[in-house]
Amino acid sequence: MELGGVGEIWYNRGMRILAIESSCDETAAAVVEDGTRILSNVVVSQIDIFAEYGGVIPEVAARSHLEAILPVVHKALDDAGLTKGDIDAIAVTHTPGLLGSLLIGTLTARMLAILWGKPLYAVHHLKSHIYANWLEDSTSPEISSSTDALLARGMLNTARSATPVSLNSLDAEVSWLERSRQKPEFPLVALVVSGGHTQLIYMRDHNQFEIIGTTRDDAVGECFDKVAKILGLPYPGGPSIDKAALEGGAEKYKLPHPKVEGLDFSFSGLKTAVLRAVQVELGVPISTPSYELAGMLTEQQRADFAASFQKTACEILLEKLEIALERHPEARSVVVAGGVSASAVLKQKVLEALLGVSESKNEFVSGAREGELRVFFPERRFAGDNAAMVGAAAYFEIQAGVEPTDPYELSIAPRSVIG
Ligand code: KG4
Ligand code: ZN
Repeated sequence: MELGGVGEIWYNRGMRILAIESSCDETAAAVVEDGTRILSNVVVSQIDIFAEYGGVIPEVAARSHLEAILPVVHKALDDAGLTKGDIDAIAVTHTPGLLGSLLIGTLTARMLAILWGKPLYAVHHLKSHIYANWLEDSTSPEISSSTDALLARGMLNTARSATPVSLNSLDAEVSWLERSRQKPEFPLVALVVSGGHTQLIYMRDHNQFEIIGTTRDDAVGECFDKVAKILGLPYPGGPSIDKAALEGGAEKYKLPHPKVEGLDFSFSGLKTAVLRAVQVELGVPISTPSYELAGMLTEQQRADFAASFQKTACEILLEKLEIALERHPEARSVVVAGGVSASAVLKQKVLEALLGVSESKNEFVSGAREGELRVFFPERRFAGDNAAMVGAAAYFEIQAGVEPTDPYELSIAPRSVIG
């Protein structure tokens, strides 16, 4: 299928992609223009359902996607104020993820592509997490008379999904504009940290992915989820450990760093180390099942374990990232991606170590390294699964020459390697 015939329109108003994401337990659709501007972004999370079970149940997830997917797609179009005729292409996550969940998203996207006659792009989930860092800061200033002037000059777009913040001066508006224009530069090192993956990826350019480090066992997000379970904190573990750790001492319990050479990671030992440390603290034998431990911990012990674990996990990630940068001194940007990139502790440690700053912003520029190193974290709401990042990834793939996929043929792959 050719993309021809719509190119003229793109030049006038940008390429608008309707993107769909359903690889795990979020049903999401978004409209993204030119890979960066968010016209709408709808995410329906099933977290409430799975908090009760302590984890995702694939069959339940698939059924929830089925119920939510069409209303979510309609809402994404409505929020953007668009109809199918305004959409230039459809993008969907097809790998990796839960089989039933991926099926619902891809079948919907295939159907829409066929019915509407739009080109269809199949996107890798981890690539899309990386591309969350190209989405523009959507906390756009409220439209005031001075922003009207910028709008008129075409310098400012107003994302309809944006949460408006009041910025008083034109200076602040211009600084927001500057920040929203900053994009990662190549070559770059991406640290992808999610519930299912922990990888270091080197990118020479758009759509060129080389895995330079990966976990040999558990993913870091999975480790957060399992440790939260041991401590009796709700699923998903990352946010609940974040919250509990605020009251805890990160130095209280010394936890080991795995001895894995090079750029690979290992997180299963850290999970076991937390389990043993909890048993020692409680004075119970190591044969005590983990599900009995949570009820014996005091709130303070729980908070101390959460803080100590969180610090250790983030330090392990940082250590490997630093080795990757030593091996790639030519890297111009660091991009952190995936659910765990929402961690304020990880952000703080990475920024302090690489740039010597602790302030919390979206993007930083450093003069400390030879050349200039830029460090990017996605806006917090784009750290976890969402469809805007899928629209961004598809756009840059199209720019790199990737062809649309046949909507009658597209299949899913629950497991796959980025490449
Ligand atoms: O990228 P994501 O939303 O889904 C996958 O592709 O897996 O990542 C989910 C993971 C979960 O393991 C969750 O516990 C973790 O991201 N996570 C966090 C935080 N928020 C979410 N981990 C650490 N700190 C957080 N604030
Ligand atoms: Zn994800």
